[in-house]
Amino acid sequence: MLIPEVLKKLSQSLDLLGDQITEAELQELLLKYPITYSAVEPWVTFQDSGYTRNVMIRTQHHEILCCCWLPGQSSPIHDHVKSKSFVTVLSGVATEHLFSDHLGKARFTLLRHLDQGAVYGEVGLIHRLGNQVSNNIPLVTLHIYLPPIELNSPDDYPGGRVFEEEKV
Ligand SMILES: [Fe+2]
Repeated sequence: MLIPEVLKKLSQSLDLLGDQITEAELQELLLKYPITYSAVEPWVTFQDSGYTRNVMIRTQHHEILCCCWLPGQSSPIHDHVKSKSFVTVLSGVATEHLFSDHLGKARFTLLRHLDQGAVYGEVGLIHRLGNQVSNNIPLVTLHIYLPPIELNSPDDYPGGRVFEEEKV
């Protein structure tokens, strides 16, 4: 797949800044190199069986993916192991449930909606991301992980380490 110039530039800048990059620095980078829906369109693909994770660029230091979600699709509850994670919404509205780690189980803390264009970045985040049924339109998100997610257990899924939700 031909990588658009704007994605290459973003990738090169990420390598220069390294994994200590802050959310503010990334926001600045995304203003300089705006990644629009049309830049990622060649990777946009939907499946009825679940949301898709489409790797656009992967280096030793970072990976850039686009994820595509039909209404009603969501990730499992997970963290990103040791990687810093940034999400930006390219089309649609993402729904995110945030959790804290309570003795190895995920305890729900907050529900938020991520609008198009917003950038969110956190380390140690435990969340479930998805496209809620009532949104009625597909969701496309851009994800940056620094360094690429490293999976350690067969219980992990490609997006990170899976958590069970605490029973209350
Ligand atoms: Fe995630």
